Amino acid sequence: PRFWLVVPAAGIGQRMQADCPKQYLRIHNRFLLDITLSRMLEHDLFAGCMVPLHSEDRWWPETEASTDRRVATCEGGRERADSVLLALKALAGQARPDDWVLVHDVARPCLSSADLLRLAEQLKDDPVGGLLAAPVTDTLKIAGVGREGIEVRGTQDRSQLWRALTPQMFRFELLRKALERAERAGRVVTDEASAIEMAGHTPRIVEGRPDNIKVTLPADLSMAAFILGQLEA
Ligand code: C5P
Repeated sequence: PRFWLVVPAAGIGQRMQADCPKQYLRIHNRFLLDITLSRMLEHDLFAGCMVPLHSEDRWWPETEASTDRRVATCEGGRERADSVLLALKALAGQARPDDWVLVHDVARPCLSSADLLRLAEQLKDDPVGGLLAAPVTDTLKIAGVGREGIEVRGTQDRSQLWRALTPQMFRFELLRKALERAERAGRVVTDEASAIEMAGHTPRIVEGRPDNIKVTLPADLSMAAFILGQLEA
């Protein structure tokens, strides 16, 4: 089976308070999107790459990726899962049902090569697939709004909790069907694995580095720059 890459980049990054979506913020004068894509594509692992974009995206033509012949774009959807499904549909003419598709957030530029290659290697004989994840290290509180403000309602046992990272890697047709099914059922899925779970399959976990962070808040950008420096050193 071959490997395909989907990098959803159709979000508008509301939490970033910037005047452009977060994938177009820059680290050392390079777009986040270009850093993420070049880190993924330097391995020659993929038969092709599809990037769903927002219909009003006006930055894409300025990227390095837009001149890369391995990268194609399609229209994104309302939610992340809609964007991924549209990308799979755009690839459907080329991919075979048991090919692999890796879905990786454009906002995770700090993926290490070792994690990417280990994910592919450890899951390549699995019938379903799985994801990179990291054990939760903080104590997690369940909270609600009380009379005096936010208050603790309980403490979650963290021994079984993992943070879902990306890439998430699944068999092409299995993921397409699972996302279609979740869409029809009106279920909100914030990662590929949850759609696969809803369809009754069991994703595997490959432990990934905790510094594979998702750039979400303004402070994450300088953290990402620091981590990238460490990865390259
Ligand atoms: O907003 P959040 O950080 O959860 O977005 C995760 C990823 O999904 C980002 O790479 C974002 O660009 C993408 N996304 C998308 N289409 C949407 C919403 C988010 O491709 N409608």
